[in-house]
Amino acid sequence: MKAVLVEPRQRLVLAETADPAPGPGQAVVEAEAIGVGYFDVMNLRNGTTSVPGVEVVGRVRDGRRVLALVLSGGYAEQVVADADQLYSVPENLDPADVVALGVNAMVAEGAVHRAAVAPGERVLVRGASGGIGVLATQIAHARGAEVTAVTSSAEYGERLLALGAAKTIDRTRERPEETYDVIIDTAAGPQVREHLELLRPNGRYVLCGGTAGVPEPEAFGPLMRDFHKSPTLFAFSLTSVSPEERRKSWDRVLELVVAGQLAAVRDQTFPLAGAAAALQHVEHGKSFGKVVLLNG
Ligand SMILES: NC(=O)c1ccc[n+]([C@@H]2O[C@H](COP(=O)([O-])OP(=O)(O)OC[C@H]3O[C@@H](n4cnc5c(N)ncnc54)[C@H](OP(=O)(O)O)[C@@H]3O)[C@@H](O)[C@H]2O)c1
Repeated sequence: MKAVLVEPRQRLVLAETADPAPGPGQAVVEAEAIGVGYFDVMNLRNGTTSVPGVEVVGRVRDGRRVLALVLSGGYAEQVVADADQLYSVPENLDPADVVALGVNAMVAEGAVHRAAVAPGERVLVRGASGGIGVLATQIAHARGAEVTAVTSSAEYGERLLALGAAKTIDRTRERPEETYDVIIDTAAGPQVREHLELLRPNGRYVLCGGTAGVPEPEAFGPLMRDFHKSPTLFAFSLTSVSPEERRKSWDRVLELVVAGQLAAVRDQTFPLAGAAAALQHVEHGKSFGKVVLLNG
């Protein structure tokens, strides 16, 4: 089979390599669509992968179409996945759309679920134009919340309004001035501090990404200073979520899709041979929604 191999100096090459051999409790997935995310950029930078890619939609040997989550190896014609990391995919959905939901949908749904977003609550989404943010915006809206989406351009603002945001904030020109019941933050960085200060009494802050960097401990000062408001901070990583919880979250995602309340948002699509360009596109931070690789 062909796979995207990481060569010295992080060069990516599509090359012939041995077919993967499944061990006990594993399955081979013939890839149709592969997700490209910031996570892959980080893994490549850290030198922790020989074949990038953590999410694949394709068919297993019995013909079922599945979403497979793996630790690495996704940028390939075939991937081996643990059986408990295969998630069902309705036949009527486009595989590229399903992978565009993939991990991002589980993070977005998991974050909104942990924060127990309720109808009428005010929710702020940071990084709203990103792979996770476009889905968190839709899911919070579907739960009846009034969503404010933070982005960096008027064009993306318009697209987020069409996805259910009630308001948008252009982070390059303005700062949020209202207060919020829930903040879903995929950006983090030093601005965590000023955003924690925007929580209303009993507010919940879900930190689920870090495109703007890792915050210093001082950024969390408002949690103790505003103790009387009983704020809650969730750090939320899908890595710590059990397979059963992931499956429940995926089922809730598919229910929203079937109900027409959630749609995949795809940015550019690249062939497997264009993996380097796809990763560069994600790294530049200018994608709206998910970048996808197609096999074949
Ligand atoms: N919790 C988990 O389990 C989990 C799983 C997968 C990924 N992640 C992490 O979640 C984060 C987001 O992932 P993603 O796939 O949604 O990323 P993405 O598609 O690259 O989107 C991130 C968005 O953040 C905004 N942004 C970039 N720099 C920013 C800054 N300095 N300040 C504020 N906003 C900024 C950009 O939108 P605008 O320019 O329009 O504002 C960008 O579109 C990454 O750190 C990723 O590693 C977490």
